[in-house]
Parts: sequence; C-alpha cells; structure tokens
Amino acid sequence: MDNEVLYLNGDFLPLSQGRVPVEDRGFQLGDGIYEVIKVMNGRLVWLEDHLERLERNLAAVSLSEAASGHHLDFVLPDLVVRSQVDHGFVYVQVTRGFAPREFVFPNPPHPTVLAYARSKPAPAVSEILMGTTLHPVRDLRWARCDIKSTNLLAAVLAKEEARQAGAHEALFMAEDGVVREGGSSNVFAVLDGGLRTHPLDNRILGGITRKHVIEMALQEGYPVEERAFTLDEVMSAPAGRCEVFTASTTKDIMPVVRIGSQVVGDGKPGVVTLALLDVIRRAQAILVGLEPPPALGVRPASV
Ligand code: PDD
Repeated sequence: MDNEVLYLNGDFLPLSQGRVPVEDRGFQLGDGIYEVIKVMNGRLVWLEDHLERLERNLAAVSLSEAASGHHLDFVLPDLVVRSQVDHGFVYVQVTRGFAPREFVFPNPPHPTVLAYARSKPAPAVSEILMGTTLHPVRDLRWARCDIKSTNLLAAVLAKEEARQAGAHEALFMAEDGVVREGGSSNVFAVLDGGLRTHPLDNRILGGITRKHVIEMALQEGYPVEERAFTLDEVMSAPAGRCEVFTASTTKDIMPVVRIGSQVVGDGKPGVVTLALLDVIRRAQAILVGLEPPPALGVRPASV
C-alpha cells in the first residue's frame, strides 16, 4: 500500500523502499526479536506490555541496549498516524544487524531496528461465530519458545501443514499429548468448570492476550489454572462440558470448534468463550475510546 511508512534505524521512508544488507544477521541467522501490536481506532493496544516483553526478550539474547535509543514508545504511535492505520497492527523487529557472516556475536554489534504499521480488518463477527479449527502437530521448535525470536521456521512449516490439512491454525503438541500452544497463539480450555492453559515456561510464548484473558477471567469470577492439559482431556469431556479457544494479538479470542478430525464440545463456540470475548472486546474498545460493541454471548450463570 502506498502510504505504508517504515521506521528503519532512525529514518522514516516508504516501506517499499526499505533495504537491509544481505549480511544482516536477522536475514541470515534469524538472530532477532520481534513484536506484533494491535492497532484499534488508530491507537496501540497494550503497548506497554509489548514494549516490556520486547525489552525482556532482547535482554535474553544479549541485545539489551539495542532498541533503547529509538524511543519506540513515541515512534510506534507516530508510525500509525503516518501510515493512517485505523485498524490493524504494528510490526517491530530488532536484529543483531549487519556483520560479515559469523555465528559468534560481532563486536560491537550494529543492531537493525525497524517497524511499520499495516491496516488489517478485525475478524468479522460471522468468522468468530463460525469458530476456528486446529491441526495438531508435533512441537519441533527449539527449547526457548518464551523468546519471540524471528527464527520462525518450525511455526512456518506447522502452519502451512495446518493450512494444507484444511485447518486455520496449527496446535503444537508435546510427545506426551500435552497441548502447548498454537502456531501463533496461546490455547485455553474450559474444563471441569474452570479455565486451563499451559503454564509460563520455556515451551510457550507468554502471550500478552493470554495475560489479559487470565486477568479478565479472574475479575469475572472464573477459576483459572495455569496447568497443562492434554488433547485427551479435551476430547473425552462430555459434549457441552468442554470449550477451547485461542488467544493472540491478531485474532483476540477465537472459539475452537474442531481439532484434527474431532469436534470440540458441541461444535459451536462455547458460552464461556463468548462471554470472555465480550469482556475483552469491551475492555479494548474503552481503552481506545470507542463505543463497546454489542455482546456476542450471554454470561453463563455459573461455569
Ligand atoms: N504471534 N504463541 C505464539 C507462538 C505466538 O507467535 C503468538 C503471537 C502468541 C500470542 O501472543 P500475543 O497474545 O502476545 O500476540 C502465542 C504473533 C501475533 C505473530 O507472530 O504474528
């Protein structure tokens, strides 16, 4: 799109004119960290959470100072205005930058810091109510999935496999049947009257949406357990007694209606899922100065 503006190492330029050297370590080695932040009504949603995670992840790969002089808390909202994005996302990437190709760190590094904003409509209500489908895959990623690294090959392959299987999203599974997370989303189940999701450890990304879902669910009085669950637990629950949903910046909460060839619950978005989605949609609308949207679900009397 013509008006997409790129922030690249201190300069603003048309995205289509952005260039980085062939020997940028992000390009050759996947040696970088990224963030995706939701834009709604021209405002960045939960920006502080994303910047805090970016900083933490940069520190985890010895790039602590890389973004500090860039004032991303000002640059990112500025990009949204310059690119005239009303609804969409901002992508931020920080790599260890240009250096002749070596595995060990260049000394000193010259990090590449870039960001751009892009328009993308929110999922339509009809899409949400149709629900989403997951395709289980063995989790072949590295053992630091808590780091939001640009090295996404395992997720690329898993999500493409899911697409070819006719599903919307991949579901990363441990060997013992534990559900870890989606290809680019966290996964929750509503089981035995409460929410369950994989605990924060090195096997999943600590999603910002996940964090807010947990906070809001607790505020609404739903029990939440950060304890892993298996696919068997989900599939063997009686119809109507189990719900699954994904949580991510790009799609908020999406009800899961099928995993592999099996239908989840009664094959429709669950009541708790829709009630939580209403809470999150309302909270985000208020945060960005919009009228809260009409409710999709009805809050169940008890879980
Ligand atoms: N992905 N888990 C993985 C593996 C992810 O890639 C993502 C996000 C999430 C959800 O995190 P958050 O709520 O902070 O978006 C969980 C982004 C959207 C992406 O790569 O496009």
